[in-house]
Amino acid sequence: MNLTGKTVVVTGALGVLGRQVAEAAAAAGATVVAVDRVDGAPPRGAQSWPALDLGDAGAVQRAFAAIAGQHGGIDGLVNIAGGFRWETVAEGSIDTWDQLYQINLRTAVNACRGALPGLREGGRIVNIGAAGAAKAGLGMGAYAASKAGVARFTEALAEELKDRAITVNALLPSIIDTPANRADMPQADPSRWVRPQELADVILFLLGPGSSAVTGALIPVTGRV
Ligand SMILES: NC(=O)c1ccc[n+]([C@@H]2O[C@H](COP(=O)([O-])OP(=O)(O)OC[C@H]3O[C@@H](n4cnc5c(N)ncnc54)[C@H](OP(=O)(O)O)[C@@H]3O)[C@@H](O)[C@H]2O)c1
Repeated sequence: MNLTGKTVVVTGALGVLGRQVAEAAAAAGATVVAVDRVDGAPPRGAQSWPALDLGDAGAVQRAFAAIAGQHGGIDGLVNIAGGFRWETVAEGSIDTWDQLYQINLRTAVNACRGALPGLREGGRIVNIGAAGAAKAGLGMGAYAASKAGVARFTEALAEELKDRAITVNALLPSIIDTPANRADMPQADPSRWVRPQELADVILFLLGPGSSAVTGALIPVTGRV
């Protein structure tokens, strides 16, 4: 994949998947702007944007206007910022439903709204939903609801941007092979989980020229789960 000349913004870029995607896009030749809630060591080859809370609509609008101004526009936005909480309805908190909405859906909507004015024709947006959002398991209600929201948002925005030839798609991972998941599920076989690099490969395809006819797609990328 050759992304030379493309400017790609990756959110959640200091997390496990975000770092992998930012480094893969940079290795493919893109100029990568790495956005996250805190300042930290940038992904290899990427430029770190100063700490940004993607829940803050005003701050996000200003940051994306500045990014587009610095780079003469934006070609790709990968919304990876997100989070997870397991709790049952009865023993959990109503606040969790708000928090997961804020972390998983509000961040993606804000980032897209921020990027839209500077997104070039032919641009690409890739969101991260979750395979588990299609049918919530025990303790997964708030998380699945927020990620189902990401799926519906992806479909609506894809329709909205067809006339600008901007594609909007979402990956639906199962369990990602991360250190946190290995620690939380020591009995599981992580070789069945999807690896961050495998997700990055699909995201790079969606950022590249070969995917121009794919939009509004919700793509399960689930390894052998
Ligand atoms: N891990 C899995 O098994 C799995 C499965 C399906 C889907 N997913 C999704 O895949 C994505 C990446 O997962 P991951 O395991 O790589 O997660 P991760 O390591 O926790 O990375 C997510 C990053 O997003 C950041 N973030 C969260 N809220 C933010 C905000 N308001 N503003 C700016 N940055 C914010 C987090 O910062 P903080 O650490 O400060 O919160 C963190 O750096 C997430 O959307 C997740 O829901 C993960």
